Amino acid sequence: MENSKKVIVLGAGVIGLTAAVKIQEHGGYQVTVLAEVLPTDDKSIRYSSQWAGAHHVLNISEESRQHEMDIDCFGVLWELSKPGSETEENFLRLTQTEYYAKEATLPPLDRMPDHKVIPKELLPPGVLSGASFSSLTMDTPKYLQYLASRLTAAGGKIIRATVQHLNQVVEGGESAFSAEKNPPSPPDAVLVCTGIGSRFLGGVEDKTVYPIRGQTVLVRAPWIKFGRSTAEADGRWTYVIPRRNGDIIIGGTQGVDDWYPYPRPESTRDILERVFAMCPELAPPEIREKRTPTLDDVIPLIIEEGCGLRPARKDGVRLEVEWLQANETGKKVPIVFNYGHGGYGFMSSWGSANIALKLLEDAIGGAK
Ligand SMILES: Cc1cc2nc3c(=O)[nH]c(=O)nc-3n(C[C@H](O)[C@H](O)[C@H](O)COP(=O)(O)OP(=O)(O)OC[C@H]3O[C@@H](n4cnc5c(N)ncnc54)[C@H](O)[C@@H]3O)c2cc1C
Ligand SMILES: *[C@@H]1O[C@H](CO)[C@@H](O)[C@H](O)[C@H]1NC(C)=O
Ligand SMILES: *[C@@H]1O[C@H](CO)[C@@H](O)[C@H](O)[C@H]1NC(C)=O
Repeated sequence: MENSKKVIVLGAGVIGLTAAVKIQEHGGYQVTVLAEVLPTDDKSIRYSSQWAGAHHVLNISEESRQHEMDIDCFGVLWELSKPGSETEENFLRLTQTEYYAKEATLPPLDRMPDHKVIPKELLPPGVLSGASFSSLTMDTPKYLQYLASRLTAAGGKIIRATVQHLNQVVEGGESAFSAEKNPPSPPDAVLVCTGIGSRFLGGVEDKTVYPIRGQTVLVRAPWIKFGRSTAEADGRWTYVIPRRNGDIIIGGTQGVDDWYPYPRPESTRDILERVFAMCPELAPPEIREKRTPTLDDVIPLIIEEGCGLRPARKDGVRLEVEWLQANETGKKVPIVFNYGHGGYGFMSSWGSANIALKLLEDAIGGAK
């Protein structure tokens, strides 16, 4: 412990927590997470991770670096979701079906287990390509708390703090933000995992970070045990993401640069209509046995409407190191950036954490 290097991780979303766990468990590091919003807080527009579905589905139009992180992460999540394991309760393993209203080139989906291209004659009307494969979903509020407790169990710390400027952390470390009035404790390295906050955090202020607002509806439908999405012809995405506990996230919307913090009633209606058309199984089975269901059969299942901001970045995830010099001590501190995960934070979390750890090790010469 004495010789371990002090690492501050800014941000307690899925990205900060996963990176913090990765680094703390690696050994040789003492990790403290500083964050304004924590997993145990009520859902907030200032914290994207609480709003995610979250499924693991590769976006076939994304760049290959993103796919590598996602595939890397899938390996870790698949292991954590293993039947009979202590961690499986955070996940639901399922068969995922992806439909495309346009002709689509389906690889890289063939990298997923049990991948099958759906023959044209079996595709629903209006769908031109489709594939199915095995994947998983995460119960995001539960999984975030799991990450936080895994971090503290490994000896890491989490402190609530609103950081105004990177320099405050480089000079003062966690002491500047802890309740006890301790002298400065400059860290050996800082990770910036501040999601949308990276646009505003002093010393980062990355104006290429922008929100892609996503509205969803949470419904109670424990009979749904499969995942399904459609890439509509107009670019919208319609999806059904069941969780292990029987709640289902349905969506969605993709509002580029849309900061509106409340669910819009017209979007909720639109989501319900699109999802019901794609997935009439949403209506309770006892109704479907008796008669043809309508949208009205789904309305009573609604638990909550919500919206969150996907932290997108013009050039994709920022994963790189910059050095900052503390003025008081002259100490040079590497800053590892890990933000801008857009709509893929959960499915790339372990992949980007591996890269962040590598950057950290290269920067400070390996702590062990
Ligand atoms: C509707 C919806 C559906 C989604 N579905 C999926 C999905 O199916 N699969 C998937 O992989 N992803 C999905 N996502 C995307 C996923 O939610 C995000 O990529 C992910 O949550 C980003 O995590 P993050 O840790 O970068 O940001 P956040 O979760 O926002 O965390 C940022 C952290 O930084 C802290 N912070 C920021 N600024 C400061 C500051 N100045 N001082 C102190 N702390 C600060 C915040 O308080 C917070 O703790 C979805 C998102 C939405 C909205
Ligand atoms: C998939 O990626 C493309 C290109 O980056 C983007 O336009 C589209 O919105 C993405 N789809 C989803 C569901 O995120
Ligand atoms: C050090 O001081 C200079 C000038 O006052 C400032 O620009 C710089 O950001 C400071 N660095 C830190 C780490 O505080």
